[in-house]
Amino acid sequence: MAASGHSPAITMNGGQKLAMKYFTVAIALFGAQCLFGMLAGIQYLHPDFLFGILDFSINRMLHINAMIVWLLFGFIGSVYWLLEDEAGVPIVGLPLAKLIFWVFTLAVVVVVLVFLLVQIGPGKQSTIWLITEGREYIEAPRWADIGIVVCVLAFFYNVAATFARGRFTHIGGVLVMDLVALAGIYLAGMFYTPNISMDQHWWWWVIHLWVEATWEVLVGCLMAYGLIKTMGVRRQIVETWLYIEVALMFGSGILGLGHHYFWIGTPEYWFTIGGFFSALEPIPLVAMVVHAVFDAGHHKLKSANNPALAWIIAQAFGNFFGAGVWGFMHTLPQINLYTHGTQWTASHGHLAFFGAYATMVIAFLYIALQKWRGNVWMGGNLVGAWKWKWAIFLLHAGMITMVMAMLISGYEQSQIERAIEGSTWMGYFAAQGHRWFLQGMYWRQIGGWVFSAGFVLLAWDLLTIGKRETRSALQVPGE
Ligand code: HEM
Ligand code: HEM
Ligand SMILES: [Fe+2]
Repeated sequence: MAASGHSPAITMNGGQKLAMKYFTVAIALFGAQCLFGMLAGIQYLHPDFLFGILDFSINRMLHINAMIVWLLFGFIGSVYWLLEDEAGVPIVGLPLAKLIFWVFTLAVVVVVLVFLLVQIGPGKQSTIWLITEGREYIEAPRWADIGIVVCVLAFFYNVAATFARGRFTHIGGVLVMDLVALAGIYLAGMFYTPNISMDQHWWWWVIHLWVEATWEVLVGCLMAYGLIKTMGVRRQIVETWLYIEVALMFGSGILGLGHHYFWIGTPEYWFTIGGFFSALEPIPLVAMVVHAVFDAGHHKLKSANNPALAWIIAQAFGNFFGAGVWGFMHTLPQINLYTHGTQWTASHGHLAFFGAYATMVIAFLYIALQKWRGNVWMGGNLVGAWKWKWAIFLLHAGMITMVMAMLISGYEQSQIERAIEGSTWMGYFAAQGHRWFLQGMYWRQIGGWVFSAGFVLLAWDLLTIGKRETRSALQVPGE
C-alpha cells in the first residue's frame, strides 16, 4: 500500500502509520487464505490433486491459520488506528510497537514456511516445539506461541499505557478490559495433556471464548468507533449500546462454551448448560443489528465514507446471520447430535468468520485509506466507486454460494450418515459419495471462484480508491 497515492498534506499519527503496516500484511494473508481454501476445495472434488505434495490437511491448516492471523493483524491495526485519537495523546512506547510489528511478521513468515516445506514431524516434543502443535486454528509451534504471547503483551502495554496517560473513554475502557481477557485466554491453549478430552476442553477456551466473547466485544468497540467516524453518531449513544452488547455477550457467550462439550467426554450437565446459554447468544447480535441500522437510518445513510459504512452494515447482518442464525441452527444438543462436524459446521464457520470479522477489518481498511489518501471524499459519486461496490457484491455472492452449498452437503450428511445409517463407518462413506454431497462441494468451489474474484477486485480497489479524488471528505457532525 505504501507509495500509492499517499498525500503528505494530511498528518497521520504514529499509531496510524503503524496500522497501515498491519493492514498491508493482513490483506496479503487474506489472499493466502483464499488460495489455500481454493486448493483444499479442489481436493474435495479431485482427492489426488497435489497428493503427497501439499495434502488436504496442510492446505486446510494454512487456510484457517492464515484467517486467524490476518484477522488478528487487522484487529491490532484497527486498535492502533484509533488509539491516539481516542486517548488524545501520542502512543506510549511507539518504538517498541514498531519493533514488535517486524518480530510478529517475521515469526508468521517462518511459521508459514515451515508449514509449507516441513509440514509434519514425528510424534515427539521436538515437533510440538518446532513444527506444529496440531491444535486446529492454533497450530503454530510452541516457540511461536511464546512469541505471540510476548507480542500481545507488548501490544497490550501500548494500548493500556496510552489510555492511562491520556483519557479513558468508554470505548477505551472496554477495549483494555477485553484485551486482558483475550490475551489471558490464549494461555489456556498452551497446555499440553495427552488426555484428548482434557486437551479439547482447554482448546475450546481459546477457540470459543475468542470468537464468541472477546472478539465479539472487540468488534463492538470497533463498530462504535466506526459509527462515530463515518456518520458522526453521538458518542453517548454508541457507548450505551456498547455496554448493553458487552453485558449480553459475556452473559451468554461464557457458558455458551458448553455447546462444544457435548461429545468430548465432559459431564452430561453440559447438555443443559451449553444448550441453554448458547441459544441465548444470538440476542446481543440482534442488538448490534438494531444499533447499526438504527444509527444509519437516523443519519439518513449520510456518511463521510460510504464503503466503510457499507461494510459496517454488512458486519451487523453477517454477524447476525453467520453467528446468530447459522450458530443457533445446530446449537441444541438434540440437533447437534446429527450435524456435529459435518459441512453444516463448515457452512456456519465460513459465514460467521466472514460476516462478523472479515467485514469489520475491511471497514477499517477503508476508514484508514481515506485519511491516507489525504482525507478525500468517499461519499456518493466517488470516482471509481464501481470497484468497491462490485468487490462487496462479489465477495458476498461468493460467500453466500459457498455457505448454501455447504449447508446442503451438511444436510445430506446429517440425514444419510447420521439419521439413516446411524453414524456407522459405512454410513460415512455412503454420505460422502452421495451425489447431493458432491454437488454441494462442486458449488462450493464455484462460490470460491466468485469470492476470489471479489478479493482481487477488493485488493485493486484498496490500492487505488480515492487516488483521483480532489474533493475533501464530507464533514460529519462532530462528537
Ligand atoms: C462470530 C462468532 C462465531 C464464529 C466466528 C464461529 C465459528 C465457528 C467455527 C469455525 C466452528 C467450527 C469449529 C471446529 O472446527 O470444530 C464453530 C462451531 C460451532 N458453533 Fe460457532 N461461531 C460463532 C458464533 C456462534 C454462535 C453465536 C453459536 C450459537 C448460537 C455458535 C454455535 C456453534 C456450534 C454449536 C458449533 C459446533 C458445531 C459442531 O458440533 O460441529 N457459534 N463455530
Ligand atoms: C476463497 C474461497 C474459500 C474456499 C474455496 C474455502 C474452502 C474451504 C475448505 C475446503 C475448507 C475445509 C472444509 C472441511 O474441512 O471440510 C475450509 C475451511 C474453513 N474455512 Fe474456508 N474457504 C474459502 C474462504 C474462506 C473465508 C473467506 C473464510 C472466513 C473469513 C473461511 C473460513 C473457513 C473456516 C473457519 C474453516 C474451518 C471450518 C470448520 O472447521 O468447520 N474460508 N474452507
Ligand atoms: Fe462456540
